[in-house]
Amino acid sequence: MLLGVNIDHVATIRQARYKDLKKVRPWAEPDLLAAARDVAAAGAHSITVHLREDRRHVQDSDLALLKRKIDLDLNLEMADVPEILRIALKLRPDEVCLVPEHRQEVTTEGGLDVHRRWRSLRRAVGRLESAGIRTSLFIDPDRWQIEAAFRTGASCVELHTGRFANARTPGGRRRQFIKLRQAAALARAGGLQVNAGHGLHYDNVRWMRRIPLLHTLNIGHSIVSRAVFIGLRQAVREMLALIR
Ligand code: PXP
Repeated sequence: MLLGVNIDHVATIRQARYKDLKKVRPWAEPDLLAAARDVAAAGAHSITVHLREDRRHVQDSDLALLKRKIDLDLNLEMADVPEILRIALKLRPDEVCLVPEHRQEVTTEGGLDVHRRWRSLRRAVGRLESAGIRTSLFIDPDRWQIEAAFRTGASCVELHTGRFANARTPGGRRRQFIKLRQAAALARAGGLQVNAGHGLHYDNVRWMRRIPLLHTLNIGHSIVSRAVFIGLRQAVREMLALIR
């Protein structure tokens, strides 16, 4: 199982001080590029960033720098909207993960409704995949959503692990885990790569090892939080040790 590290929250700290800068400067700390280099040095497999429409953390100029200077796969999370789609097609990250986006949310809450929006998603996926960008849909572990994902032509799904992570009781967590495992099996049987993420941390991540053929875990908040105390390289290494 591979690890993608979401470094949005490094940019969140930077923007808390420098949000009025029109272009990101190397002295505007913490430096996102330095964070990506540490993630790479620690042995992670990809870098994930979410270019939100409101640009609350990652900025357009970050993307160009990360693409040019970091020798890891770049996974761009984004909403299916024309402005961001244009940016993705120009940037050509290795991977795009299409996510739902709402202005008021603190972080991505819930997966895409692929079942309802599959025509528009199929168009976006078609354009991205034809440009050579592996495209993933962030969905809840739900059979309808997976079957709709098959019809979009995406090569990958990322299963939303938020409900599993937020379950308050052991029984609830187990039920959510079974949904994830069944969804992963269905998606794999249909030929999709299966990733997972959201709300995973150093304690609950061990459950993911019990889902056969999960490809990549995308983890952000917990790793960046731990990095405050022990440094980013060590925080990434510890997570890698848990998922291997
Ligand atoms: N995967 C997706 C699609 C996300 O939107 C997020 C949150 O930005 C993550 C993974 C990482 O979630 P967390 O920060 O809770 O680890």
